[in-house]
Amino acid sequence: MNRFIRVLGIAAPLAGAGLVFILVSGAGDSSRVSAAPASAQDVYLDKCSICHAQDGSGNTAKGRKLKVKNVRSPEVGKLSEAEMIDIVAKGKGKDMDGFEKELGGDMVKQLVTYYRSLAK
Ligand code: HEC
Repeated sequence: MNRFIRVLGIAAPLAGAGLVFILVSGAGDSSRVSAAPASAQDVYLDKCSICHAQDGSGNTAKGRKLKVKNVRSPEVGKLSEAEMIDIVAKGKGKDMDGFEKELGGDMVKQLVTYYRSLAK
């Protein structure tokens, strides 16, 4: 019995330390997971939000001037993901530039995913 208590006395703090380790490393993991969307978000805020606004509404001085549509509007909702990727890659009209050369096709896709997520 004494021996059992001794074992428990060692095992319990160890289990506690293990739990703390899991919690700490879990927190580390979740910040790593959110790093990828955050970088598309950073690029969006840097390159797109001046016209499309942080929330995708197009409600900025420049956005209103260029008549940028709200990402939640039916017109934008009609566009497929592929059509948007095409617009962001190659540009559309005289005001929306193509970004494929500058940002690469992969980032263009991520940006469209991020932009579409603003509509939800
Ligand atoms: C100088 C202002 C400006 C910037 C910067 C800009 N856009 Fe646009 N964007 C426009 C305008 C204007 C249109 C509408 C073009 C049309 O329909 O003729 C548009 C259209 C779009 C569309 C098609 C759907 C819609 O909302 O009409 C997508 C998707 C889009 N932009 C994404 C982006 C992304 C992603 C970035 C950043 C990499 C970006 N835009 C940067 C002005 C801008």
